[in-house]
Amino acid sequence: MLRQPILMLARSQRVKSLVSAMPVSSGIVANHVPGETTADAVRATSELQEDGLYVTLDYLGEDTTDAAQADATVAAYKELLAELAAQGLAAKAEVSVKLSAIGQFLPESAGFGGGHKIALENARDICRAARNAGTTVTLDMEDHTTTDSTLSILRELRKDFPETGAVLQAMLHRTEADCRALAHEGSRVRLCKGAYLEPEDVAFTDKTDIDKSYVRCLKVLMAGQGYPMIATHDPRMVQIASSLASRHGRSPGTYEFQMLYGIRPEEQRRLAAAGETMRVYIPYGTEWYGYLMRRLAEKPQNLTFFLRSLISK
Ligand code: FDA
Repeated sequence: MLRQPILMLARSQRVKSLVSAMPVSSGIVANHVPGETTADAVRATSELQEDGLYVTLDYLGEDTTDAAQADATVAAYKELLAELAAQGLAAKAEVSVKLSAIGQFLPESAGFGGGHKIALENARDICRAARNAGTTVTLDMEDHTTTDSTLSILRELRKDFPETGAVLQAMLHRTEADCRALAHEGSRVRLCKGAYLEPEDVAFTDKTDIDKSYVRCLKVLMAGQGYPMIATHDPRMVQIASSLASRHGRSPGTYEFQMLYGIRPEEQRRLAAAGETMRVYIPYGTEWYGYLMRRLAEKPQNLTFFLRSLISK
């Protein structure tokens, strides 16, 4: 019931400026975001890797309409990748990139053929830096208006960087077909349920329908030739994925589990200890507002905790 209003607030600039004054170190933010700087991200990476976990890092930011901001995001990823390589952490760390943070929404007037092309070139720049560091990039998926553009950028990037991965969202009606198209050898697909507010004509809005779609998509990916990245905290989905792995003779390392930083950390360690590849998604940076609101929408029970942090700031 609260999911819709919280997700609407996620895009409110007024609420964002009010809430963003809260320090990243305060309760609920710190539970989901380890810090604002490259050093914070590298420290969190090192700690998780010591516990046998892999990571993917997201320099927070989205929906930018400022070319300088998009350039700054590219620079932040390059700095991070160089630091991960320098500290010997890159083999078990990749990066996740939101195309709207690196220019996808820039207008035609920004030049270079507009937002789609700018995002492609910026993503190419990050892929090059990732390859130099010895690791890979996965493109995050945002709301359904961006899916075609994101998958088209993925196709372009894969010509030079075939290791580039993408995210598909089970809540969208189109996703089972997208899974079929991407279940080929060498293809890395992160399957999640979907975190955005979507209209009924393009998405399942009922939780049971989303879960059923997740299972159908999982079946396609686990039966396929690609590398499925099972991004969920849902115990049932983890169990179904494990059964599908046995059914298709997939051993750990031919697929992986993924969860978000701070969510079900004991389960993350349990899966890693059981020999699974378990990757933790680490968001960092100052632009944590939209990310945090999506997490609150998934778990509105955390709302009281959040409001308490706001009042005591
Ligand atoms: P669901 O929300 O049904 O929760 C299942 C169970 O998990 C809950 O009962 C609870 O026990 C636990 N849980 C879930 N959320 C919790 C929380 N916030 N706090 C505490 N416990 C919680 N989405 C997107 O649209 N585009 C993207 O690119 C990505 N990328 C991405 C990467 C990775 C690695 C992950 C794990 C997730 C994403 N997502 C995403 C988010 C995803 O779409 C989805 O919104 C969340 O993962 C929550 O869905 P679950 O599958 O966990 O199930």
